[in-house]
Amino acid sequence: MQAMTITTEQTQALERLVYKSRATEVMGTLALFNLLNQARERNANLGVTGHLLYVNGMFTQCIEGPTSAIETLWQSIQRDARHDQILVVERGPVKVRRFDAWAMAFSSYRYLNSFNMPGFFPLNEAGVSEKSGLCAGS
Ligand SMILES: Cc1cc2nc3c(=O)[nH]c(=O)nc-3n(C[C@H](O)[C@H](O)[C@H](O)COP(=O)(O)O)c2cc1C
Repeated sequence: MQAMTITTEQTQALERLVYKSRATEVMGTLALFNLLNQARERNANLGVTGHLLYVNGMFTQCIEGPTSAIETLWQSIQRDARHDQILVVERGPVKVRRFDAWAMAFSSYRYLNSFNMPGFFPLNEAGVSEKSGLCAGS
């Protein structure tokens, strides 16, 4: 479900937005699984790809896609009561996607993946996953 084929890419301006936020409640396996499923379905429809990191009760998310889709999604994300203290790290036009294979890749502690969701990247002892380094900064 997380793999996508982007067909309109060449004709639309792309934007990337990276933010950090704090989970308002501790997120368990099921809560994260539900969030990811919801996000991936909508992102696939919007042509949005990206990565979500959840560690120490904090989110870092990268969303990338057509400018209008990013703005639409951003309005929703900011309204979401599951997190607060939202801080934009980076936002601007980009030429290429970093996560073009993922409607929303997800990196977190291995124990939070008891549903074996696809597109899950476990953190190692240093708190780093195969994909998490691509998440912040430009
Ligand atoms: C940390 C976090 C990341 C989220 N990421 C996405 C996302 O990538 N795509 C998405 O559609 N919804 C995401 N959501 C859920 C949205 O905030 C929102 O609930 C959902 O898009 C429905 O939008 P609506 O409330 O405007 O109908 C995320 C929520 C949280 C708390």
